[in-house]
Amino acid sequence: VIHLVSVELESFRSFVNPTKIHFAERGLYCIKSINRDTGGSSGGGKSSIGLGLAYAFGACPIPSTELRSWGSKTPPTANLILDAATISRGKKVEVTVGGEKKDGSIAQKEAEFLKVFGGLDLEMIMALTYRGQRQPGLFLNKKDSEKKDFLTRVLALDKFEAALKESARKISALEQDLLAARLRASNFETNLKALAPDADANEVEALGQQLQSRMEERALLIAALVQEHDELRDGTEAEVKAAEESFVPALAEARGHVAALRAALQMSDPDDPAVVAAIENLRVTADQCAARAKKLSDEDNARRRDLEAKRSDYSKRIQALNLKAGATEGLSQEKNRIENTLRSMQVDVCPTCERDWDRAAAHRAHLTAELADVMAKIAVCEQILEQVEALIREVAKLPKFEPNAMALKLAEAGAKTRAQIATEEQKLKGARELRAAERRRAVAEADQAVTQIIASKAAASSDIRTRVSGRLQELQVEAEQLRREQQKDQSGLNELGVQLGRLRAQAEQSEKITVDLAVAQIEVASIEAQLKAEKDFAHLIGREGFLGSIFDEVLQEISDETNEVLGSIANTRHITLQFRSENVTQKGTIEREIRAFVTVRGHETTIRGGLSGGMLTTVELAVDLAVGAVISRRTGVCPGWLILDESFDGLDAVSKETCIEILQRYGQDRLVLVIDHASELQGMFTNVITVTYENGVSTIESSQAPGAAAA
Ligand SMILES: Nc1ncnc2c1ncn2[C@@H]1O[C@H](COP(=O)(O)OP(=O)(O)OP(=O)(O)O)[C@@H](O)[C@H]1O
Ligand SMILES: [Mg+2]
Repeated sequence: VIHLVSVELESFRSFVNPTKIHFAERGLYCIKSINRDTGGSSGGGKSSIGLGLAYAFGACPIPSTELRSWGSKTPPTANLILDAATISRGKKVEVTVGGEKKDGSIAQKEAEFLKVFGGLDLEMIMALTYRGQRQPGLFLNKKDSEKKDFLTRVLALDKFEAALKESARKISALEQDLLAARLRASNFETNLKALAPDADANEVEALGQQLQSRMEERALLIAALVQEHDELRDGTEAEVKAAEESFVPALAEARGHVAALRAALQMSDPDDPAVVAAIENLRVTADQCAARAKKLSDEDNARRRDLEAKRSDYSKRIQALNLKAGATEGLSQEKNRIENTLRSMQVDVCPTCERDWDRAAAHRAHLTAELADVMAKIAVCEQILEQVEALIREVAKLPKFEPNAMALKLAEAGAKTRAQIATEEQKLKGARELRAAERRRAVAEADQAVTQIIASKAAASSDIRTRVSGRLQELQVEAEQLRREQQKDQSGLNELGVQLGRLRAQAEQSEKITVDLAVAQIEVASIEAQLKAEKDFAHLIGREGFLGSIFDEVLQEISDETNEVLGSIANTRHITLQFRSENVTQKGTIEREIRAFVTVRGHETTIRGGLSGGMLTTVELAVDLAVGAVISRRTGVCPGWLILDESFDGLDAVSKETCIEILQRYGQDRLVLVIDHASELQGMFTNVITVTYENGVSTIESSQAPGAAAA
């Protein structure tokens, strides 16, 4: 039991001055007040004592700025002295445990202080030691689900809860692992089945070896055939070469002959000298004829030119005279005209000028003169014409040109001679062509001989080759046949190799998978074992196991304790309480809830349904005290005080008395501080603390209660 020794307040609300309040280890205290400023009991400073305690713990609901005494410069200070430790909260926070002052941050110091309360946290300590003004009963006013949480935490069962949750998580994880491991194992089994070999690797290998040796034998055979073939071919080629070489001299000779003949073809032979001389003579004769004929022809030409020149001269002269005589016609026309005019002038009047003739006499005279002139001119012209005729007669007397007949004869003789020359030359040309044709024929014959020799040579080699070609082909065909078989064997061998490779890989894989399977099976077994152990563990500490039973036990203990209290007091003797814990399933989780029921005069009811306000307050108090007692027993930690700030306000005197009676029992081994206005029940308390309020300042006046001796 941790005892509250004293509380010191300074600059804390109405406790302006340093104020220290001592407490006994156990007993039932009444804290009352006198407000001298109002004359009443309210606003005296009672609640401030409880608030001071909470503040020292660091759990005051009012902020420290509002706790500082009005007008004071000192920060609100509350020192709490327990028998095991002290905590002082003012300007600084100071903690001593077992007389030793703790260092570190505020949080570290507070933690050191709380360690004194074992596993209880601050909230739990406050819940078990302090019910503030107008706060209802603690435990029964919690929701059904909160009750369990409260007990779980206060009894440090949360560790088991956490272990249970962890176990559930582990179970779920293990179940998943198990599924996965089983799947793995089953996959390995399936794979193993799939890898069962379809043939014996040794048999396949033996088959391969057999094939291999057959191929080696065949390779030898092929080599022999190839050798025979090559030898035959090479021998034949040597023979062919020898045969061809035997033709070489004849061929060379024939080709030499051809070359000589071709060279001769290029040369020209002299013509027949007798014919050449005859031709030369004929040419001399022809030339002589030509020269003589030329001479005669030249003479002819000279003669002819002379004659022509004479004729031309006459012709020119005649032409000139004719030109002169040409005026004759014009003159005779003039004569006619003048004569006509003169004849017409026989008339009286001149036909031209229409004058009288007399007047035309002059004109007639002129005409007559004119006529005489014309007549004279005509006479001249007639003389000229006579000259022309004389000249024409002279031209006619000129001799006619006759060429020399000898020249013609000479020309004919020349032509004849030239024809003879052409005939002789034609004879020479014919003889030359005949000689050339003969030579060409000889060349062709020689060429033919060369071709013949080449053909004979080819025929000889061909004969030799033909003789062996059959055998060579046979050898090739035979070797080819063997090679094809060899290839077939090779592909068979390859297939066997692939098969063998596959079989070996499968065997290797099978071995690996067998190991994997064994590992997986071991893993399955291991997980199964772990799962079983975990399930056993969960069952053991779970609702059906330890946790379930401990809850039921604790609840039974609380209700027993409560019922004992209720039963011991006349006014509550007819009320009994029982808790039931039930599983409530919500969203897949199973939560255990604690429900409270009461039986009033034999009728079971819920606490809110069947109890009056006064009865409920009484039962709540009894339950809270029972909870505190059970927790203390169970945890081994007991905060040895309880502050109730006007918890019985509004109750009638009897109910209140009942509550105080209950607290009297509880206060036998603890300190209970009841803040209350009433003075009528003071006799029931062991101590009374009177807080006096005057001029805004509270002071303490402690006294032994009148009934203290009796208690
Ligand atoms: N910061 C403060 N400084 C000084 N006085 C304060 C401060 N805060 C509150 N008070 C006064 O302290 C007095 C005591 O208040 P407290 O709550 O302790 O009274 P009480 O005795 O519990 O009264 P009630 O019976 O009405 O609950 C009150 O008169 C209040 O007005
Ligand atoms: Mg108060």
